[in-house]
Amino acid sequence: MIFLDLGLQPLANKYLNFNQIKKHETKFRLLLDFNVKTKIVSIKKTFSSKKMFNDTYPYRSSMSETMKDSFLKLSNKLKKKYKNKKILEIGCNDGAFLKNFDNNCSLGIEPCKNIANLARKKKINVISEYWNTKLSNKIKLKYGKFDIVYSANTITHIKNLDNVFSAIKNILETDGIIIMEDPSLLECIKKNTYDQFYNEHIYVFSLIALSKFLKKHKLRIFKVDKIKVHGGSNRYFICKDQSKIKIDKSVENLRREEMKFSLHKLKTYVNFAKRIKNSKIRLIKILKEIKKSGKKIIGYGATAKSVTILNYCKINSSIIDYFLDVTPEKINKYLPGVKIKIKKYNKNSLKDIHYVFLGAWNFKNEILKKEKKFIKNGTRFITHTPTPRIIR
Ligand code: TMP
Repeated sequence: MIFLDLGLQPLANKYLNFNQIKKHETKFRLLLDFNVKTKIVSIKKTFSSKKMFNDTYPYRSSMSETMKDSFLKLSNKLKKKYKNKKILEIGCNDGAFLKNFDNNCSLGIEPCKNIANLARKKKINVISEYWNTKLSNKIKLKYGKFDIVYSANTITHIKNLDNVFSAIKNILETDGIIIMEDPSLLECIKKNTYDQFYNEHIYVFSLIALSKFLKKHKLRIFKVDKIKVHGGSNRYFICKDQSKIKIDKSVENLRREEMKFSLHKLKTYVNFAKRIKNSKIRLIKILKEIKKSGKKIIGYGATAKSVTILNYCKINSSIIDYFLDVTPEKINKYLPGVKIKIKKYNKNSLKDIHYVFLGAWNFKNEILKKEKKFIKNGTRFITHTPTPRIIR
């Protein structure tokens, strides 16, 4: 059942160069769907992996200290608990996680060749192909089975989940574990972060929906950690049904919380949609009032998530002059659809800037800490979550 229409949207990570801004852009209607039977929340229209993940992919995991720190902490825990185990990462990006492991027992999968090369520079073994059963068979022949399969912010990017999990099961030792982390649907609903949805984020999972789906594959979640990254994510620990691992109480705790929030009911999403329509009105009002007062607004963190917000709210360069970002692949390009320029960040970028729209709100703490000198001098950040406001 469709519950929210986020309007016509371009492909989120397709940042435009100057020659492209006058050309036709692929656009699609971003509709959000709740499947009453499976409880899965997804976007309606999807694109092929080849169109989204190729050798011009602009996203690097290592661009934030928060992510690097989160990966390091998990790596240390895993290395302590599971000594000398073989680990495979699906969607290893630039190696932010795998760089913490010995390359004799680790392997990364990263289909975007430009990003895979960045991981290889860190001496990580990477196969640059799409994750599916065919690749899983090929890897099994060459490397055998794995003890741990890890994937962060990737599985929700792949439409055919049946194939994803068949491929993982195929390569996983009987007592092996899968660790997957992705934005939490509960946090998304609580924080009104509708920008978690764009063409790459095909699914935003609840524990309710994921565990129901995994049953079909004879897999079960035995533990779940709520983690702070990306606006609140769940790190699911999954094993085969026949595994001896006991189910931790964290699973029942989160299930209860999700049920309390009625994540299994359509009305929750209908109400979410109402809040999002109000969020749009409020954000536009705040930005327009600032513009009317003659003050300049810039954006910080040209995220794919911002693309959803900006295009849904029709905020273009007449409102936000430009965005700042640290990612080399994004600098001097333009945000898709709304065509706002992205400039290179430097530590004085916020000098004399009054208002900053926080595109990378998921790194709010890291960014506000980094910019505290300017905030002290009067620079103000604007966020849309949980409700649009100027952060005081
Ligand atoms: P993400 O929310 O999809 O992970 O993207 C975060 C973007 O924000 C990415 O392009 C890097 C950028 N960024 C900065 O420009 N400065 C920062 O301090 C941080 C944390 C992120």
